[in-house]
Amino acid sequence: MTVKNRVAIVTGGAMGNGRGIAKVLASQGARVAIFDKSDLLDQTVAELTGEGLEVCGFRTDITDRTNIDDSVARVIEKYGRIDILVNNAGVMKNLPFLETDMANLDFHIDINIKGPWNVSQSVIPHMVRNKYGRIVTIASVTGGFVDDGGDMSYSITKSALIGFGRCLAMEFIEDGITSNIICPGYCNTPMVAGEAAEERPDDPSAFLKDLASSLPIGRLGRPEDIGFLASYLASDEASFITGQTVVIDGGCTLPETNLDY
Ligand SMILES: NC(=O)c1ccc[n+]([C@@H]2O[C@H](COP(=O)([O-])OP(=O)(O)OC[C@H]3O[C@@H](n4cnc5c(N)ncnc54)[C@H](O)[C@@H]3O)[C@@H](O)[C@H]2O)c1
Repeated sequence: MTVKNRVAIVTGGAMGNGRGIAKVLASQGARVAIFDKSDLLDQTVAELTGEGLEVCGFRTDITDRTNIDDSVARVIEKYGRIDILVNNAGVMKNLPFLETDMANLDFHIDINIKGPWNVSQSVIPHMVRNKYGRIVTIASVTGGFVDDGGDMSYSITKSALIGFGRCLAMEFIEDGITSNIICPGYCNTPMVAGEAAEERPDDPSAFLKDLASSLPIGRLGRPEDIGFLASYLASDEASFITGQTVVIDGGCTLPETNLDY
């Protein structure tokens, strides 16, 4: 898989899946710029560069187009090009549907849909100029494949990203740009730790254990699992794959029944 010397932007790379994606891309020789608004950004960049990886961070809120354009301009100033964009940053605040107000819906739309939209609009002109690009958008099995009650805002924004990634694939296919969508199942990240703390405030680790054993594979995904797939889709070798939705979920969307005999 060749991503060596490619310049990659990973949104939401300060923690969780984004951090795993940034780490795997950089381990394979990419030069990675993390866009994140979290206070953990500097620490993550320091830890990854401490491992000898070429990673830098730009404090960026993906709901703020001016902030995004400024960070993209700084990546261009530093490296002169952008080859890979991983639209990873996302949020999930679940509520029963009848209690889900417009503020909750707008929160998800602003980050989960308008975020990738804005970052992609800012980055793609640089890919078109070079007639090369790899866009990977992180959706979820939630929405496109499975759902639990209480997921409404998250589910509809994540399923929207499948159409988003496909449209990009068709629109920029003649510009040497591919666009693919990754749909992870449950992974061990701060997002899921937050869900565990809400569901079982008395014992979040028991919730995580139950969650892991509820998956056919018996464990949660690791951020690096998502990283290796993203890295392949972002590689030179993946040039014939575009507009595809790839599920990576430890089998959670597989069972035809839940009969146990
Ligand atoms: N963890 C899972 O089980 C799981 C499953 C399916 C899909 N996903 C998707 O994977 C992606 C990453 O999830 P995660 O579990 O690592 O989440 P996380 O909450 O652990 O990390 C998300 C990162 O995004 C950043 N972020 C949030 N809002 C931002 C904004 N406005 N601007 C810039 N950065 C912002 C956060 O600071 C954080 O670093 C999300 O798109 C999520 O929907 C996660």
